[in-house]
Amino acid sequence: MTGKKHRLGVLISGRGSNLQAIIDACADGRLDAEIAVVISDVEDAYGLERARKAGIKDIFIPWKKGKRKAWEADAAGILIAEGCELICLAGFMHIVSEVLMGSFPNLILNIHPALLPGFPGLHVQQKALDWGCKVAGCTVHFVTDDLDMGPIIVQKSVPILESDDAGALAARILEQEHIAYPEAIDLVLSGRTSIEGRRVKISPK
Ligand code: GAR
Repeated sequence: MTGKKHRLGVLISGRGSNLQAIIDACADGRLDAEIAVVISDVEDAYGLERARKAGIKDIFIPWKKGKRKAWEADAAGILIAEGCELICLAGFMHIVSEVLMGSFPNLILNIHPALLPGFPGLHVQQKALDWGCKVAGCTVHFVTDDLDMGPIIVQKSVPILESDDAGALAARILEQEHIAYPEAIDLVLSGRTSIEGRRVKISPK
């Protein structure tokens, strides 16, 4: 592949295993992209360490209660200055407002550990178990102002086993998240997605 690589910005709040999956996909050529910057609202998020180990710029912006828009404005300034084309929320545990969405319209993706529109929000693996679901999974979607309800790009499912607790189920879903996120990013970066109402149409290669 010739030409410049696409530049990604990744927002995290924690351990960053999905960030790692994106780093790995950039490194092994599954993605024609590089991560320009990783931004965290949590100072000791392990994902920042993963970024440093991979030689990626990492930035901590302290989260201040009631100051969401100021945080997003700071983040947007950095993401724009770094030339990011697509923003990936990877375990970023805040709702995103029009401040960030306005800077990156239809260019923010999120990964969620449930088969949306079932189980938005938090503790969703436990909720799937408590509901008695027989399958669970993960969803990568465009971020809109409707929490966890943006148009769906990729979903992967896993069976729920009799022996499952929330931790075991979360681990099985996470394996699929690490496959789904690079897949979805590639679809968007390669221009194969178009949003038509609620549906994301995927054009053939
Ligand atoms: C992942 O399971 C991700 O789907 C979830 O947080 C975890 C982050 O793990 N995100 C959400 O629940 C967002 N609503 P990671 O830091 O190892 O990628």
